[in-house]
Amino acid sequence: MAVFYNEGIKQFVLSTEKTSYIFYVSKTGYIVNLHYGKKLSEKGDYRHLWYSDPVFAPQHEGDVNSKYSLNEMPSEYPAYGSGDYHEAAFGVEFSDGCRLVDTVYESYEILKGTIEPENLPGLSGGDNTLVLTLVDKTTNLKIKLYYCIFEKEDIIARYTIVENTTNEPVIITRALSLNLDLPTSQYDMISFYGYHLEECQLERVRLHHGVQSTGSRRGASGHSHNPAMILASPETDERQGEAYGMALCYSGNFIARAEVDGYGRTRAQIGIHPDDFKWTLSPGESFTTPEAVMTYTDKGLNALSHNFHNVIRNKLGHTKRRDMHRPIVVNNWEATYFDFNEEKILEIIRSCNGLGIDTFVLDDGWFGSEKECRNNDDTSLGDWLVAEQKLPRGLTPLIEECEKQGMQFGLWLEPEMISETSELYRNHPDWAIKKAGRPFCRGRNQLILDITREDVYNYLEERLISLLSENRISYIKWDMNRNMSDAYSSSLPPEKQPEIFHRYILQFYRLLRSITEKFPDLIIEGCAGGGGRFDMGNLYFCPQIWTSDDSEAIERLRIQYGTSMIYPPLSMTAHISACPNHQTNRTTPFETRAAVAMSASFGYELNPLNLPENDREKIASQVKSYRENADLLEKGDFYRLESPFDKPYSAWMFVSEDLKKARVTFVQQLYRPRLRAVVKLQGLDEKARYEVTNEAGEKIGTFGGDELMFAGMSFEPKSDFEAIVYNLKKVRR
Ligand code: DGJ
Repeated sequence: MAVFYNEGIKQFVLSTEKTSYIFYVSKTGYIVNLHYGKKLSEKGDYRHLWYSDPVFAPQHEGDVNSKYSLNEMPSEYPAYGSGDYHEAAFGVEFSDGCRLVDTVYESYEILKGTIEPENLPGLSGGDNTLVLTLVDKTTNLKIKLYYCIFEKEDIIARYTIVENTTNEPVIITRALSLNLDLPTSQYDMISFYGYHLEECQLERVRLHHGVQSTGSRRGASGHSHNPAMILASPETDERQGEAYGMALCYSGNFIARAEVDGYGRTRAQIGIHPDDFKWTLSPGESFTTPEAVMTYTDKGLNALSHNFHNVIRNKLGHTKRRDMHRPIVVNNWEATYFDFNEEKILEIIRSCNGLGIDTFVLDDGWFGSEKECRNNDDTSLGDWLVAEQKLPRGLTPLIEECEKQGMQFGLWLEPEMISETSELYRNHPDWAIKKAGRPFCRGRNQLILDITREDVYNYLEERLISLLSENRISYIKWDMNRNMSDAYSSSLPPEKQPEIFHRYILQFYRLLRSITEKFPDLIIEGCAGGGGRFDMGNLYFCPQIWTSDDSEAIERLRIQYGTSMIYPPLSMTAHISACPNHQTNRTTPFETRAAVAMSASFGYELNPLNLPENDREKIASQVKSYRENADLLEKGDFYRLESPFDKPYSAWMFVSEDLKKARVTFVQQLYRPRLRAVVKLQGLDEKARYEVTNEAGEKIGTFGGDELMFAGMSFEPKSDFEAIVYNLKKVRR
């Protein structure tokens, strides 16, 4: 049992294999957090770990002669208005305008297994769930805190359900998913910032007094900040040290923040951004927050990432798609952009003959109406019918040609969008998110469909189902190329307008759920102008996400390195593209592009026929090598070895579960004369010997696991952007 309750002292100990999360219920009914960190015995009495001596801190009735004050207390779910001056996790407005709420413990329940939050993505298949019920005694408003425990992965997933058990409507003004009060502030905050073409850049700063936060108010998790945060001890690096990680399983507005108070204590929180959010609950209704996934390790950042990677690979989303080998894809976007016709696409499909490619994906530009065809990004979104002007015989000849070449067919869609120049908009100008009569913004010349409206949702669901039923489509690239502005829905009453962002995301998930349930073999690749919606919520439905529109290998070093902190390499799509690269104008060796793309869900973003012949000839052997290593790349442990943010090179490796196989990739950024990089490997069997070969299969030598890990492996690149890939095979113990 992952939850141990000591009735005598009202103390709960939540245990995973290597961590403990401990709190108790105080005499006054408040829940006091005592420890989150390395595993402690379930049997101990840890109440002494909390001490406070409140000065200038409000105390509750009944507490005046004690040392209790909510401002001094490490809380599980701090509510606004009852004496805690730190950032609250929860706030409400009652119908008389009162915003005070004071929640105390009422009861607990321990459930077998874990439960996903209703209508939201979440982890499944965990060991136990603890549900704590809190109550605001004055109004009888109830709050349920869920702790879903994944013992093997050292993960606790948390969410909250607010139940309006009062007789009046209640407005929730904030309801975060996770609050974690830590007794010190000796941490660095690691977060992930960026922009379109430069996602998931890693930033590490020392916590300071006051509030530091990262977040999104753009209706999507976004390119700018990723919905995750790590608090790491200053000495923590990839190989050792303490770190707490939290990631939100949600694709909309979010906040992740750390508040350090005057005493040097830290409150960490993650959840839906409280700006631009209110939710009205009628009596009898409930509200469920998204799930936040948290973990702790004292073994460094690689170990922290392994906890996230394992739980994402094994416990997030639909088993069939999640566990499938990922197809090797050729996508035509950078090969043609909008400029194609049937002959051009058939030529690309035919060029895959004998290469071993699994799926051809037709990107943007294939649809339209009688009046206009998608020849640029001004038109046609919403008109999901094949543009006869470009593809007069429809998709069928393309699908048939794919099948003839032993491949499957994939299609690009941007379902949530509408172009003003489209049949759909001409018929339904009110279906876009905006306020009629007011000026409104476009993003990439397009508007967002108001899927919070049932009629719009139904139209879209029906259209997608027809498209997928009428054509043999095995793969969808689900794009989203603008963020929300003018957030107003013509269908919501005034008091529900502040619900639009979250309602939109709920409907987005409903649509994805409906499509993935109806088409269980379909793979959906998430995309939002690259990595603009790279989050666990999206990964629940889309087992892989186009990591960035920057397909250039050297840029991808940083993007993929940052992304890998939380998300497994398998969840990132990475393709070899043509050179000079379209985003950076840089030319890198074909092998380097392969080495970087083959460390993720692999494919090509080019027309093979336009490649120089000697590069084209390498495709078949790259495909073969990826397939041979598929188990290792998909299921192996991923170790970051050298950071492209700190060094003129980057290195990483995969190690199979049984430690018998490994693959090390080293990529030089700008060449430094006489550079000899010595890289210490990780995760090997230190008592074993490993035979090392290069990609051509030539033997480099046989080395001890201890030698490779504790003395290192040396790399001597000769030029800019050179990649060196070694395959390791255990030969004996
Ligand atoms: C943005 C995506 O990230 C690209 O890969 C491509 O699909 C374009 N949209 C198409 O418009």
